[in-house]
Amino acid sequence: MEVESVLVTGSNRGIGLEFVRQVVHLPTPPRFVFATYRNKNSIKDLQNIRDEAKDSEVILIQMDVTKLDHIKAAQEIVQSKVGIRGLNLLINNAGFAKLLGFPEVTEENLLTHFHTNTVGPFMVLQEFFPLLKKAADRGEGAKLSVSRAAVINISAGNGSITTATFDFPIIHAAVGYRVSKAASNMAMRMVAPALTKSGILDIQMCPGWVKTDMGSPAAELEVSDSIAAMLKTMKQLNESHQGTFIDRNGEPIPF
Ligand SMILES: NC(=O)c1ccc[n+]([C@@H]2O[C@H](COP(=O)([O-])OP(=O)(O)OC[C@H]3O[C@@H](n4cnc5c(N)ncnc54)[C@H](OP(=O)(O)O)[C@@H]3O)[C@@H](O)[C@H]2O)c1
Repeated sequence: MEVESVLVTGSNRGIGLEFVRQVVHLPTPPRFVFATYRNKNSIKDLQNIRDEAKDSEVILIQMDVTKLDHIKAAQEIVQSKVGIRGLNLLINNAGFAKLLGFPEVTEENLLTHFHTNTVGPFMVLQEFFPLLKKAADRGEGAKLSVSRAAVINISAGNGSITTATFDFPIIHAAVGYRVSKAASNMAMRMVAPALTKSGILDIQMCPGWVKTDMGSPAAELEVSDSIAAMLKTMKQLNESHQGTFIDRNGEPIPF
């Protein structure tokens, strides 16, 4: 996978931070890595990666995905760096989970999940679409690929309606989270035809159950292994994967 530019949302910790750490060490690292965060007090690890990166310029940008003015301001910063070359890869990673089941779940809990996990990434894609399109236009005639232009939406297997089960109380309790991820899958699938027309790959990818603040120490996967698998899979993606929902190894997940 060779991309000139990549943007990772929610990259101050967890999966997003590890994406930034690993992309700057790719055999051919991106020229620009845009790493977004919300809180200035949480970016020490990102600053270390930025300061140690040899071949990539790592640009830290404050962006809350629930705030359209933040997204627009971030878009301007990215635009000023990449210019007519556009943005190759958008990793819509920022996410929120506060597990509450029925009947405890509140309106506020449902709305926060929907805003952060569904509307937020959708608006990020919408605002960055012109930059993705610019990158795609440079590879006109080429097939869809992450190296050309792509949005990878970090989804979750437990956003699958088909495989939702009734026998796992903890995950079953995550009603707001699961609804928001299922809705995000639908939103991102709805835009796949428009993105195809513009030469942009559009994928929903589950990282697995990963040891992060969200995944908890009980999770199955080290964050480094999850991200290594996702980056390996990204290299293989093409038009046959457009609009699909896959796991970190590229295996399909039913919607
Ligand atoms: N870990 C897993 O097992 C697992 C499994 C399936 C899917 N996922 C998905 O993977 C993605 C990353 O999860 P993670 O495990 O790394 O979670 P995490 O450790 O809780 O990190 C979440 C990241 O999202 C950011 N974020 C939250 N709300 C935001 C907002 N409104 N605007 C911008 N950034 C925001 C957080 O920023 P702050 O530090 O400022 O809060 C943080 O950087 C999420 O989309 C999650 O749903 C995770």
